[in-house]
Amino acid sequence: MPDISISNLRLSIVLPTFRERENIPQIVEQLFKLGSYYELEILIIDDDSRDGTFDFVKNLSIEDHRVRIIRRVGRSGLASAIKEGFLNATGDIVALMDADGQHQPVDVFKAIDYLISNNYDLVIGSRFLERANILGLSQRRVGGSSMANYVAKLSLPKNYNHITDYMSGCFVLRLNKCLPIIYKVDVNGFKFLYEFLALTKGRLWVGEVPLSFQPRLHGTSKLDISIVWDFMISLLHTLSCRILPRRAISFAIVGLTGVGVQLVATNIMMRFFLLTFKEALPIAVISAATSNYLINNALTFRSKRLAGISLLKGLLKFLLVASFPVIANVGLATAFYNIVSENETWAQLAGISIVFIWNYVASSRFVWNT
Ligand code: GDD
Ligand code: MN
Repeated sequence: MPDISISNLRLSIVLPTFRERENIPQIVEQLFKLGSYYELEILIIDDDSRDGTFDFVKNLSIEDHRVRIIRRVGRSGLASAIKEGFLNATGDIVALMDADGQHQPVDVFKAIDYLISNNYDLVIGSRFLERANILGLSQRRVGGSSMANYVAKLSLPKNYNHITDYMSGCFVLRLNKCLPIIYKVDVNGFKFLYEFLALTKGRLWVGEVPLSFQPRLHGTSKLDISIVWDFMISLLHTLSCRILPRRAISFAIVGLTGVGVQLVATNIMMRFFLLTFKEALPIAVISAATSNYLINNALTFRSKRLAGISLLKGLLKFLLVASFPVIANVGLATAFYNIVSENETWAQLAGISIVFIWNYVASSRFVWNT
């Protein structure tokens, strides 16, 4: 039985959900059972799942006031749902866990007890501590998470080197201490914890407990390529001392893929369609710009994603936006060459940087209306 002083603490448990209707009853029931010693609140942050989650939890909250639901229209993503949960929680201590049965309520309560008895600011449920087990993760996911954890460790303050799972979706924290930082977390994708730790600059006292990470009860994972991409961008943003904007980093990497597309397209046109270099070049440039546009639409500007006829209109705008700097590029590179230095490389880099800034600023504004 937990210490008697625990009954004075208010505890909020945040469950982000996207199509988890079938998993919710079992988890809520277990949380009630295990949390009976606490003044408890269960806060469900649902991204308009349309599988009956809202009605189900609404009825539950009428029967039992310890349950609350926040319904968000559209899908804004896991990290922002987590943030919304913490900002709306009323507990002294707030726990976050997945709502699909992968995190065991019993582990969450162990993390809570551990935080209270050792006075930690944050306790992470880790899938990679020695006593943890990860039945619910494929080999590929274990590999991916371990790699992400490795890079995360390198990019975060040394105080956090003892942490074994920066990617975890299960952790417990003291709200008063953490709220000023939580409110600053601004991230897409899944990696709320990583971003949060980066912002705290090593100032939190962090412990870990092992998780028994189980297979999902029902439904499928929502982690996809765009989530992995967001994490990569998040890492580079941290490595740039949080100076370069995330979208600009994403836009730049997409630009690099465009270089590859252009080189390959020129080659194919010349080799297989027997075009001359001058004939092949415009086709290759347009192919690269189109591919950049589509990838940016799917990843960099995902929250503003264009579809249907707007996708086509957006492409025309993007090509228009991208055609201006061709002139600027040549003009600036020539001016740099004539006035500053007769070094071809520096002259071209000067031209390219102007192209990048123009393309990023103008297409953010005119194509995706940000
Ligand atoms: N509100 C909301 N909005 N909830 C979401 C969204 C979203 O866009 N996407 C996912 N969720 C909820 C799910 O309903 C589930 O309760 C929880 O977030 C985790 O989502 P899963 O789709 O089951 O993630 P996973 O099991 O593949 O990933 C797990 O491991 C990752 C690290 O490898 C989770 O624990 C992640 O949090 C963790 O980062
Ligand atoms: Mn899951």
